[in-house]
Amino acid sequence: MKVAITGGTGFIGRYLVQRLQQDGHTVVVLARNGPKAQQCFPEVAFPQVEIVPYTPLVLGDWQQSLQGCDGVVNLAGAPIAERWTPAYKRLLCESRIATTHALVAAIAATNPQPPVMVSASAIGYYGTSETAEFNETSTPIATDFLSQLCQDWEAAAKAVETAGARLVITRIGIVLGNGGALGRMLPPFRMFAGGPIGSGRQWFSWIALEDLASLFIKALTDPQMQGVYNATAPHPVTMATACEALGQALNRPSWLPVPDFVIETLLGDASVVVLKGQKVLPKRTQATGFTYQYPQVTEAMKAIVT
Ligand SMILES: NC(=O)c1ccc[n+]([C@@H]2O[C@H](COP(=O)([O-])OP(=O)(O)OC[C@H]3O[C@@H](n4cnc5c(N)ncnc54)[C@H](OP(=O)(O)O)[C@@H]3O)[C@@H](O)[C@H]2O)c1
Repeated sequence: MKVAITGGTGFIGRYLVQRLQQDGHTVVVLARNGPKAQQCFPEVAFPQVEIVPYTPLVLGDWQQSLQGCDGVVNLAGAPIAERWTPAYKRLLCESRIATTHALVAAIAATNPQPPVMVSASAIGYYGTSETAEFNETSTPIATDFLSQLCQDWEAAAKAVETAGARLVITRIGIVLGNGGALGRMLPPFRMFAGGPIGSGRQWFSWIALEDLASLFIKALTDPQMQGVYNATAPHPVTMATACEALGQALNRPSWLPVPDFVIETLLGDASVVVLKGQKVLPKRTQATGFTYQYPQVTEAMKAIVT
């Protein structure tokens, strides 16, 4: 396959590009900063990766690189775990919703058209709860900022179907790999100062980065896959259990809780991302026959930190 990716220089994208190349595919990385992306994917190590500089909201020459692609993966978005000022909230929305609109317009205008787009969304779509259980058919229980953002992001992606392409939306959980959320949790644990964040009772619906990449590749290649799929492992845990698993994997205690107010001071409104969660089950994903390499959090954590 030839696959185009937005957000390909990020935590998930870098791994996915590597996996696609390993599997013998060619990758077009649409990146806002060409030289920076070239550093991520040096030509010697990534001969099958082509960097195409682009301005996400402005259609231009970069559109031509979509020609002949067998699929597009849409991962672009400004980082969520930052302080949400009103201006930053606008950036969070624009970098997902407006960029997805522009990407869909570019796909619609391409001939021949890439037949499939796999687009990121997040489990924040469902809202947060300590008691409810969500699968792909669940409707959001609250429309907080993140839920509304995901709804609008998915609606923007949906337009690609009108253009004639197959659409797979992945509602991604907390991705465990080298970097991302786990990268931020590791240092205190390594220094014997790790512990549950907040009450510890909030749900932690996670997925191993390797499984997420496999799911993206399945979504690109399996014509039966269409619509929304939860990109989470089949066994979500609470934050306390996740931290215990991390402590065990590192052979370190998980006894020093990080109180809510510390996170709230650091992140403001964005603290909801770590202090509140949702129990998400990948019902439709499992129904496709997708097999997880890491269904349990203990094994996933061990594999990452060792
Ligand atoms: N990691 C998780 O646990 C997780 C969970 C749920 C959902 N997701 C979603 O999955 C996607 C990828 O996640 P990630 O962890 O790989 O994110 P990431 O490491 O922050 O990378 C996102 C990429 O998006 C592009 N980007 C950043 N700011 C942008 C802006 N203002 N406008 C347009 N593009 C921008 C950048 O690529 P260039 O600079 O090359 O253009 C960046 O490398 C994101 O949309 C994220 O919300 C992630």
